Amino acid sequence: MKFLYTYTQKEDFEIKFTTFFGLEEVLANELKKLGGKDVTPFKRGVSAVGDIGFLYKCNLNLHTALKVLIPIAKFKAENEQDLYDAIKSLEWEQFLTFDDTLMIESVANSEAFTHSLFISQKVKDALVDRFREKFGKRPSVDLVHPGLRLYVHIYKNEVTVNLDSSGEPLYKRGYRAHIGEAPMKEVLASGLVKLSGWEPHQLLIDSMTGSGTIAIEAAIWAAGIPPGYYRDEFGFKRWKNFDEKLYDTIFDSSIGKISDKAVDILATDSDSQMTQKALTNVKKAKVEDSVKVLHQSFFDIQPSRSSGVIILNPPYGERLPVKEIEAMAKEIGSKLKKDFKGFTAWIITSSPEFIKNIGLRPTRKIQVYNGSLECRYLKYEMYEGSKKAVKNNRENPEL
Ligand SMILES: C[S@@+](CC[C@H](N)C(=O)[O-])C[C@H]1O[C@@H](n2cnc3c(N)ncnc32)[C@H](O)[C@@H]1O
Repeated sequence: MKFLYTYTQKEDFEIKFTTFFGLEEVLANELKKLGGKDVTPFKRGVSAVGDIGFLYKCNLNLHTALKVLIPIAKFKAENEQDLYDAIKSLEWEQFLTFDDTLMIESVANSEAFTHSLFISQKVKDALVDRFREKFGKRPSVDLVHPGLRLYVHIYKNEVTVNLDSSGEPLYKRGYRAHIGEAPMKEVLASGLVKLSGWEPHQLLIDSMTGSGTIAIEAAIWAAGIPPGYYRDEFGFKRWKNFDEKLYDTIFDSSIGKISDKAVDILATDSDSQMTQKALTNVKKAKVEDSVKVLHQSFFDIQPSRSSGVIILNPPYGERLPVKEIEAMAKEIGSKLKKDFKGFTAWIITSSPEFIKNIGLRPTRKIQVYNGSLECRYLKYEMYEGSKKAVKNNRENPEL
């Protein structure tokens, strides 16, 4: 068996991008804008074709990707021995030497392979046994800064071995020094902003801001700041074919597009400790000119413009008793109707009770996941006194 990609390859190759469920189309659009070819969404990911420069560009610039992977081997395995034999037969010397370090992550959806740790162990055994038999020495495992990170995916009996070019997942932007109790992953926050249809000339309100993630992601997108700008580390920087000159050119061209035009984003929270944390994060992300952080309850906000977009990530889940969720939903619904006419409101919640009690009819419902929590991202259009809104708002929908 031969590798599908090698470090010396100059031609285009297949690249897989992982993301959260619900953000596949958003990510596909980002990839098309970056110049990806054959962009094809699949569940929790998108595939595309490009060269090594495109791979660097994607790691640096994508807002809604979690990992950028290169599939290097695809084969069938019915059991662990098949997996071991196939891995051992590959010419790993192309990617590392016995002095190098590696890390293996695995994900499986298979009857034969049920434990991801066990898969990683088996792959590592096969790979190091090959080196030991050939050279008498073997690469070692490093779970923090490995020279080579592999991502093994098994679906039924189909195994795909990928090089993980990102290293730490791309939601770890590096600007969040402080987080609250239920911080949202940066990639999801960015996806919610894009799904909301907010445009930088509009007012955006993130008024249950917690660590400030939604507001900050909106600001960095509006300013054209590459989300990878804040971090030094990418997996590909440790590869033997790392082309520093090419990367520097891509980096310079990406940051050359940053705009210093401020936008109008308001981030508030009723908890003063949270607003302090959000402010620190806003400063670390260098978007303090665009994001105004206030210690203010959502219920006290009087918007400074007659239209705009509001994104709410209210507390929910196991944290709150149902009665409190119902009461909060009713209050939020009334406040939106009273003071946010002309606005589009988007709310992410995992609570059916919240949706039943808000007293507004959503015009869009999108299924997303916040970690393992299945959520709905709901759009409410707060028309200025139209009959439709009055009629809609009287209804009380169930999902
Ligand atoms: C689920 S967390 C938001 C997490 C946030 N998206 C992040 O990434 O960190 C909900 C936040 O709503 C805030 N909150 C609760 N009631 C509020 C209210 N009436 N007005 C403003 N913020 C409120 C809480 O203090 C908490 O920080």
